[in-house]
Amino acid sequence: MNRITVVDYRPDPQLDAELANLGYAAIQGWPDQRPFTPALVRSSLRPAGMTASTLALHRDADGTLLATAAVRWPATLEATGRLWGPIVHPAVRGRGLGGALLATVVEVLAARPGVRVITAEIPESRTEGWSLFERAGWRASGTSSLLKRPLPTNEDIPTTVPVRTVRAGEYLDQALATRFGGARPDLGYATARDTYSRWSADSRYVPDGLLLVEGPQGLQGATLVYPLSHSVTGEPAEALIADLITCRHLDRTTAAAVRSALVAAALKAGAAAGAAVARAVVDDADVLATLLVAGFEVADRLRYYAPPDSRGASILTPGYAGWRLGADLPTISTHG
Ligand SMILES: CC(C)(COP(=O)(O)OP(=O)(O)OC[C@H]1O[C@@H](n2cnc3c(N)ncnc32)[C@H](O)[C@@H]1OP(=O)(O)O)[C@@H](O)C(=O)NCCC(=O)NCCS
Repeated sequence: MNRITVVDYRPDPQLDAELANLGYAAIQGWPDQRPFTPALVRSSLRPAGMTASTLALHRDADGTLLATAAVRWPATLEATGRLWGPIVHPAVRGRGLGGALLATVVEVLAARPGVRVITAEIPESRTEGWSLFERAGWRASGTSSLLKRPLPTNEDIPTTVPVRTVRAGEYLDQALATRFGGARPDLGYATARDTYSRWSADSRYVPDGLLLVEGPQGLQGATLVYPLSHSVTGEPAEALIADLITCRHLDRTTAAAVRSALVAAALKAGAAAGAAVARAVVDDADVLATLLVAGFEVADRLRYYAPPDSRGASILTPGYAGWRLGADLPTISTHG
């Protein structure tokens, strides 16, 4: 019997390690294979607002965790929550656990009508990952690209714009809120307002990963690099470029120079943090082009789905001139 327990998620070292092990086993061999650590679990399930994430768990008779799914609720009704999973251990797939967890998620969502959610990103090559949602009638709700490149960089990417890291005690909340709100108005006021606190509260945050470009009118752009490594699995350490925003008032040439400089600085920061792979999830054509020039390659396309009866448009509006982060997407959470 597929007994599923539904609980409020609270960070707990043992549970976080169990979830990380399960997550790592589930994505091994796929393009989204990466260090899957307890810190990544905490980051993915950290509540965006006041409501604890809802976690569904299935264990065997001995208590071993075999499958899970979670909903991270949005901070406000104008924002979009995130579904995490379902994730089923490869040894017990094809027995209905994934379907049972998805049915549980649908029940959990039904208790909060009007709340929007979207799935985590699912690689297009992993047919069983997205067909689960299509069979259940979920709607395709955007795509993005998963990009990777090895680190360190041997070539020096020429840049024309200076980039600096955040200074100790520097007040960035207002400047980042304004820039983020300009770049992603679709994500709403609260998400923009909380940009700095959301970025810096993540378990992977390091001040050296917050990179800024300043111009005469203030902040011209910012990017955020999260380093992540897992000594237990020995998975190559990654540097995730979790977000990249530029001021929307810049002319095209300046915006391109700011993006290039931020990406070059992000690669340096990632290498300095010991990462062997740089990673990004992108839906914006300009950021994609900048990353390709900087030596990234597309590892896969990523798909997103929304529940059959959910209201509103996709948060990943194709062609929208903003950019959005990764699974652990801080943006969406509140990404990613
Ligand atoms: C997606 C996943 C949760 C499914 O778990 P599961 O326990 O095997 O799911 P179920 O047993 O309920 O259903 C499996 C279904 O997938 C189908 N399936 C299996 N492999 C498939 C494939 N390559 N292509 C299409 N369908 C496939 C099976 O036929 C079965 O369909 P049926 O119920 O109509 O017979 C599991 O594969 C997984 O953890 N994948 C990695 C994580 C992931 O991608 N999660 C999804 C979003 S993040």
